[in-house]
Amino acid sequence: MENEKGGQSEFSRAPLDMPAEELRAIGHRLVDRIADFLQTMPTGKVTSGEAPAAIRALLPKGNLPDAGEEAGKLLDEATDLMFQHSLFNGHPSFLGYITSSAAPIGALGDFLAAAVNSNVGSYDLSPMATEMERQAVSWIADLAGYPTDSGGVLVSGGNMANFLCFLTGLRAKSFSDIRECGLQGDRPRLRVYASRETHLWIQKAAILFGLGTEAIQSIATDDHMRMDPSDLRTQIEADLKAGNKPIMVIATAGSVNTGAVDPIADLSAICREHNLWFHVDGAYGGFAACLPGAPEGLHALSLADSLAVDPHKWLYIPLEAGCALVKDRKMLLATFGVRRPPYFHFEANSEEVVNYYEYSMQTSRGNRALKVWLTLRSAGRNGYVQMIGENLRLARFLFEEVSRHPELEPFTCDLSLTTFRYVPERLREKAADPEAQEYLNHLNSEILTQLQKRGEVFLSNAAIRGVFLLRSCIVNFRTTREAIRAIPPLVCRIGRELDAKMRGMPGMVR
Ligand SMILES: Cc1ncc(COP(=O)(O)O)c(C=O)c1O
Repeated sequence: MENEKGGQSEFSRAPLDMPAEELRAIGHRLVDRIADFLQTMPTGKVTSGEAPAAIRALLPKGNLPDAGEEAGKLLDEATDLMFQHSLFNGHPSFLGYITSSAAPIGALGDFLAAAVNSNVGSYDLSPMATEMERQAVSWIADLAGYPTDSGGVLVSGGNMANFLCFLTGLRAKSFSDIRECGLQGDRPRLRVYASRETHLWIQKAAILFGLGTEAIQSIATDDHMRMDPSDLRTQIEADLKAGNKPIMVIATAGSVNTGAVDPIADLSAICREHNLWFHVDGAYGGFAACLPGAPEGLHALSLADSLAVDPHKWLYIPLEAGCALVKDRKMLLATFGVRRPPYFHFEANSEEVVNYYEYSMQTSRGNRALKVWLTLRSAGRNGYVQMIGENLRLARFLFEEVSRHPELEPFTCDLSLTTFRYVPERLREKAADPEAQEYLNHLNSEILTQLQKRGEVFLSNAAIRGVFLLRSCIVNFRTTREAIRAIPPLVCRIGRELDAKMRGMPGMVR
C-alpha cells in the first residue's frame, strides 16, 4: 500500500519490520560500539562481581508493555547492560572453566546468519547453509585428525555432541529392535564404561536415555588421571560373566578436571576385541590434535567410532557450536532418521543431498555453520596451530611460575590446563596431614571465591583425590604472558589475607 507521497503507508509496515535506513543507522552504531568494547575490554575487569539482585534490578519491572519501543533506543540500552554487567570470557585473564574467547568474525557470521535466517533442517530450506555445514564439518574432522568423510552435524555444544554419539552407539550395539521396542522387556542389562573423570554429560545421558546411572560402570584411573585399560578389561569380563551386555566405552581426550587424555589406542583395541562402540569425548582436547607435538592419544582419535568436539571451545567460535562426528555416516541416519512424514516435500538423504533433520534431535535448525565456516577460514590451520600452541605454552609457563613460588604447590599441567593450590609456609611440611588438608581445601575454596568476585583474574577449580585445587584453563587467544605472570602474586596476596582471618577461627589449623 502506497501513501500520497509515494512512500510506504504506516499501515503496511508490521510492528517488527524495519526500514532499511533505520537498520543501517542502528546497525552501524552497534558495530562501532562493539569494536570499541573489544578494544578496551582487556584493560578492565573480567567481571563486575555484582550480586544477582543488583543485576535483576537493572531490568524493566512488570509485564511486557502493550506498546512496542523504538529499536535504536532498545539496542543502546541492551548494549550498555551487556557491556557494563557481564562476565567477559574474552578477557585475557579469563581462564575459568573451558569457555573460550570468541572470534569477532564468528560474531559477524551469527549476525549474518540470523539476518538470512536459513532453516538448516532440510536442504530445500537452506541450500547454501547446508553445504557450508557439510564443509565446516569436514574441516572440523580434519583438524581433529578424524576421517573427513565421516557423518557429522553441528549441535549446541559438547553435551549435545556427546548425547548424539551416545545414542548412535546405543542403537548400534544394544538390541536389533531397540528402535521399535526400546529398552522394554526381559533383556540383559546394558553396560557402558567410562572413567571417573568423564564430564557430567554421561550422568545426564544415562538418566535421559533410559539406561539409568547404574548402567555406567566407573573405571579406575592411573596416577595421571587416565582411564586404566586393565580395569576396563576386568569390568567387561565380569559383566559378561554376570550375563550383562556391554555396549560402549567412553574415553576422554582432554578431561574437564585436569586435561588428561585417556590411552585411546589401548582402549580402542579392547573395544574391537569385544565388539563395543568406542566413543571419545574430545570436547576440550580434540582440536589440539592439529599440533605437531600433540599428546600421543590425540593422534589416535580416528580409531573412535564416534567423536564429540566443541568448536565453541578451542576453535574460538562464539557460543553455541558443538559437533558430533560418526565415522560411519549411515549410523547417524540409522539413529536419527525417521520415515518421511507426508507433510515433508523433501528429497531423501543421499550422497548428494543432506537433510540435517535426519542427523540429530532437531528439526528446525539455525545456521550455526556460518560462524564456524567463517572463523575456520579466517584462522586457517596455521592460525589454529599458532593459537592452540600458544595456549599450551602459556599453561606450561604458569606451571613453572607456580613451581618457583614458595607459597604455591603445583599439581598438574596437561594440555592448557594447570592446577595448583595455595599453601601457607607454616603448613608446607604438613600439607598432607588430614587436618591440614581439610583446612587447605577450605582456604583454597575461599581464595577462589574471592578471585572470582574481585574480577582481576578468573580461575575455576579441580579436585584430585580429595584435594581442592585452583585451575587455570587457557582456551583464549587474548591471554598473554603478562596476564599469567600476574596470577601467582595475586593468589598469594589473597591467600595470606584469608589465612590470617581463617586460622583464628574455631576448628581451623593454626
Ligand atoms: C570433556 C568435556 N566434555 C563435555 C563438555 C560439555 O560441553 P558443553 O558445555 O559445550 O556442553 C565439556 C565442557 O567443559 C568438557 O570439558
